[in-house]
Amino acid sequence: MTDQSSNQMWGGRFAAGPDAIMEAINASIGFDQRMAAQDIAGSRAHAAMLAATGVITDNDAQAIREGLLTVLSEIQSGSFQFSTALEDIHMNVEARLKEVIGEPAGRLHTGRSRNDQVATDFKLWVRDQFDAAETGLLALIRALLTQAEAGADWVMPGFTHLQTAQPVTWGHHMMAYVEMFGRDLSRVRDARARMNESPLGAAALAGTSFPIDRDMTAQALGFDRPAANSLDAVSDRDFALEFLSIASICALHLSRFAEELVIWSSAQFRFVTLSDRFSTGSSIMPQKKNPDAAELIRAKVGRIYGANTALMMVMKGLPLAYSKDMQEDKEQVFDAADNWMLALAAMEGMVKDMTANRDSLAAAAGSGFSTATDLADWLVRVLGLPFRDAHHVTGSLVAMAESKGCDLPDLTLEDMQSVHADITEDVYSVLTVENSVNSRQSYGGTAPDQVRAQIKRWKALA
Ligand code: ARG
Repeated sequence: MTDQSSNQMWGGRFAAGPDAIMEAINASIGFDQRMAAQDIAGSRAHAAMLAATGVITDNDAQAIREGLLTVLSEIQSGSFQFSTALEDIHMNVEARLKEVIGEPAGRLHTGRSRNDQVATDFKLWVRDQFDAAETGLLALIRALLTQAEAGADWVMPGFTHLQTAQPVTWGHHMMAYVEMFGRDLSRVRDARARMNESPLGAAALAGTSFPIDRDMTAQALGFDRPAANSLDAVSDRDFALEFLSIASICALHLSRFAEELVIWSSAQFRFVTLSDRFSTGSSIMPQKKNPDAAELIRAKVGRIYGANTALMMVMKGLPLAYSKDMQEDKEQVFDAADNWMLALAAMEGMVKDMTANRDSLAAAAGSGFSTATDLADWLVRVLGLPFRDAHHVTGSLVAMAESKGCDLPDLTLEDMQSVHADITEDVYSVLTVENSVNSRQSYGGTAPDQVRAQIKRWKALA
């Protein structure tokens, strides 16, 4: 006689039920119930295949498939009673199916194991998140394109070391992020294509002696093909690791842009005004408008990269095939996915709503000797100086302007000629920021024509 409290799924070998602490550490139902729809889709495909291959009867498959829909609607309506004693989503669903349809429920688990079942469910869940990331990235890219198009020829300072370097255009700066998020998008698409192989039918680890049709279940679940090695299919989580590393890189891009928005929206910069809808106030300082959304986006990379690191550490050193360690994969991926999607949506909203302050950008573009390189290039092009000498002459002129407290275009021709006698009036034409950006016509450069060409290319892609 088996103890009545022992597990209904494997009670045959057990005389006693688990300790309460054992149940607490073992159960995943608290979080893996998020995979209910995927679990039921997998089971419905499996049941249909078992009938098609003659492993179970059509009547049983029919009862199972309909019963599973009943269970799904109970879960979706919130009336389903999840049980910790039943450990995870797989056993909760199957136990309820038994209550709903009786004896045929016991035939569903033929030719499969929770190991291929969980790998299948989790892949389906992660695949949906790759699709959500694709949608979120495309929306963000489109918002950036709109900003870039509006200000394709607006001048602003370009920085290196956060020191004024050379003038660039607002459109060019927006398009830099389009390139970054575009690569994130391509990583998402690559990884989705690579992960889209079905683990279902790998069973516990070795495959099964039942005449199952893995192509049929793969196709029913939208996979490109069945995974080719049953040991691998149940024991790797590299698809989740790719998801987390792609999310980490994208979150890093989001974080850099968020940091720029924090700087740019400050009173000292005033490059952009963030909308009220994406800002917060201060409870004590009435004048404050804080870029909280940008700050939180900036922080998300820590959390998402933390999930990536955590799962790497869970997986390292695990012998093949399945080990229960792998149950720790889900919470990390769920949390990272939720926060990645939220960060993408918040950034899209901020970019859509923000106003670039054209005048502040232009004023800043002209300060800080931003056209010094143009002056040096003029000395090379017109006077034939070697670039190193031109650099030196320009450096002396910058030092002179700095000591006089003015910018380069404010120096008189006599001032200029005191440093190099051959300088002519013509030099002033290259000292304007407009000339500077218009002259950067090299492919990928900041000239408005170049920027518009890239916007056009991206509009066809996104
Ligand atoms: N809840 C488990 C998990 O998330 C399901 C697989 C259990 N398999 C097993 N052999 N104990 O990994």
